[in-house]
Amino acid sequence: MRLDIGWLDLATAFACCVLPRRRTIAVRQARQSWNSQDDFLVTLSVRSAFDLLLRALQLPHGSEVLLSALTVPDMVRIVQMHGLVPVPVDTDQTGQIDASSLRRAISSQTRMVVVAHLFGGWMCLDEVLEIAHDHELLVVEDCAQSFRRVGDSAHSASDVAMFSFGPIKTASALGGAVARVRAPELRERMSELLQSDPIQSRTSFLLRLARFAALKLLSGNRTAALTRYCVTRLGGDFDALVNSVVRGFPTSGLLVHLRRQPSSPLLGLLERRWRSYEFGRIENRIRLGKFLDSRIGQEHTATHSYWVYPVFVHDPIAICERFQAAGFDATRQARMTVVPAVDDPRTPASAAAVWKHVVFLPWYPDMPHGAVDEMAGLIRPSDLRTGRCETAAEETRN
Ligand SMILES: Cc1ncc(COP(=O)(O)O)c(C=O)c1O
Repeated sequence: MRLDIGWLDLATAFACCVLPRRRTIAVRQARQSWNSQDDFLVTLSVRSAFDLLLRALQLPHGSEVLLSALTVPDMVRIVQMHGLVPVPVDTDQTGQIDASSLRRAISSQTRMVVVAHLFGGWMCLDEVLEIAHDHELLVVEDCAQSFRRVGDSAHSASDVAMFSFGPIKTASALGGAVARVRAPELRERMSELLQSDPIQSRTSFLLRLARFAALKLLSGNRTAALTRYCVTRLGGDFDALVNSVVRGFPTSGLLVHLRRQPSSPLLGLLERRWRSYEFGRIENRIRLGKFLDSRIGQEHTATHSYWVYPVFVHDPIAICERFQAAGFDATRQARMTVVPAVDDPRTPASAAAVWKHVVFLPWYPDMPHGAVDEMAGLIRPSDLRTGRCETAAEETRN
């Protein structure tokens, strides 16, 4: 993993932490650099925006919130912390939900469906929106993994769309998010609640900058290999260590951490990233992704931006070992989870089976073409699983 942020961005952000700046100006300039609409809020994170949405909606206790079966654990926790019930909607190998899984997951208690566009892909939402409309469900798009252009509104018919600029995201600002909210009354209620929240302190953002600057230093080719070697020799788990460092907020007291407005330096960094991000980086990532697809016989949709490159293999441990022996940092660990089932008929069998077989390849926009070619040479056609058919076969076997 490489942080998608430059040293100059970090240095400017450090300077913003110590130089005074009126907050109203920081808010206005950040908003203007996203887009000229007035239909969005800038929040501390996607999780903060999601919590804000649930605070504003005040759904009846015990209401069910459908979530794509693969998501980050905090999204599930936030639903539970509001006295609501998270229900998984099964996903396939590409992270997409299909109409039949969605229909199966809906009950008389369902009020909302949160669709995650995973791995850099974009789901076609037309059918989901139709079903949601029939059942009067709110549709929320979680675009945390799929940012592709500044000012994006995602699907015009969804109720809410959320974009993340957290540490490991495209055009990272080490935090911050945008939530586009279609209904003016809901947006107004969310905005009032947000303005009553405390503001993230400059010191806490400064410490965050320092933590990620250190991580950036350690994630260079040689330094990462050396750190992995040292951590492993000392009996530690390098992947677990990295995941704990990049995790945004501590699990204990999660809501207190989420319920803060972004600080002026964070708003300044968001503005800078949106104004000057080099979108050629995404194009480069797509070119590499398509090249790897062609080399190992994979396929992704035309709008995929290859934020990460997961492969689904029969023996993920063996593949990780093979990659590591060849000097590539492939990992099975991700910050995602399979949303637990609430009852038998709504078990996300496909997502659970898929997730056991995932390996994330090392992946970043300026990865040398030759390295991608070399990685392709390490994957044999017989290593790869082929998706739903195999999942169905596994289910039958079990
Ligand atoms: C699918 C998904 N949803 C939500 C989030 C949370 O985003 P944030 O860190 O901005 O809260 C992430 C972060 O990785 C994510 O991948």
